[in-house]
Amino acid sequence: MVQLIPEITLNDGLKLPVIGLGTYKLKGKEGVNSIISAVESGYRLIDSAYNYENEGTIGEAVRRSAVPREELLITSKLPGRYQTYEKAVTTIQESLYRANLDYYDLYLIHWPNPKQDTYVEAWQALIEAKKSGLIRSIGVCNFLPEHMERLEKETGAKPSINQIELHPFFNQATQRKWHEENNISTESWSPLARANQVFQNDTIQKIADDHNKSISQIILRWHYQLGAISIPKSSSPARQLENISIFDFSLNDTEMSMISGLTRPDGRINNQDPAFYEEF
Ligand SMILES: NC(=O)c1ccc[n+]([C@@H]2O[C@H](COP(=O)([O-])OP(=O)(O)OC[C@H]3O[C@@H](n4cnc5c(N)ncnc54)[C@H](OP(=O)(O)O)[C@@H]3O)[C@@H](O)[C@H]2O)c1
Repeated sequence: MVQLIPEITLNDGLKLPVIGLGTYKLKGKEGVNSIISAVESGYRLIDSAYNYENEGTIGEAVRRSAVPREELLITSKLPGRYQTYEKAVTTIQESLYRANLDYYDLYLIHWPNPKQDTYVEAWQALIEAKKSGLIRSIGVCNFLPEHMERLEKETGAKPSINQIELHPFFNQATQRKWHEENNISTESWSPLARANQVFQNDTIQKIADDHNKSISQIILRWHYQLGAISIPKSSSPARQLENISIFDFSLNDTEMSMISGLTRPDGRINNQDPAFYEEF
């Protein structure tokens, strides 16, 4: 069964499905099989990163899948340790060699690492890779408004998308509003909060029972109605299909507010505040 996933249009015109597959920890032969099963269910957007060490797995799945390359949207990310102009240029090439692909649809700076303060020169390398056809759309992850303002001010180019931690325990209301006002799409990482305590939450369970849906479907519908693209990771074909089967019901305003109301200031999974946290 193939599930059709609605699309949204980024500020540079690229269309992305509102749900993609997260692939952190999907590697090797099992990872390839999981990604192929997701594509068979209807996933077209696949998230990955240089640091997940699975760009090779993604490329192999792309080649073995029955869906043509042009219909798939493949993402990778630049790690902090290669965040200078020269290193970023080579790393984008290396990412493509690892996947054995000619281009990425989306390439993101993985973390701003503000103490290192080299994200603007790395951004310049992404801009040039886009111009030369190696990347179709360029964006960032975990960037705060001040970081994105600097990118635009110093290079004239703003990101198409910002991939941020977003789930019921951390709803990112202020950051999402800023994205909306600045025409930058929001993409939710760990949209299911890694299926830990959120899956034991009574409020979400009650809403799930009322709709005869799973907890995961309620949470992913909440992301969709917030206007965010989510990238839930699952290795299981059944859970992958469950996670994209959310387009035959809707949450009312009260239900949306109840889920958003679960947010806490300390709701981040690992306390990774991009103002301070650095990842290399
Ligand atoms: N940019 C960044 O800094 C950043 C940071 C973190 C993550 N990411 C990206 O975001 C993606 C998603 O985040 P994540 O992997 O951290 O967490 P997640 O997608 O919130 O949760 C994944 C966990 O949920 C389980 N799961 C999935 N669907 C389920 C369902 N229907 N019912 C029950 N359990 C279910 C999965 O187990 P099974 O596999 O066994 O189904 C897995 O253990 C990552 O894979 C990665 O691509 C980006």
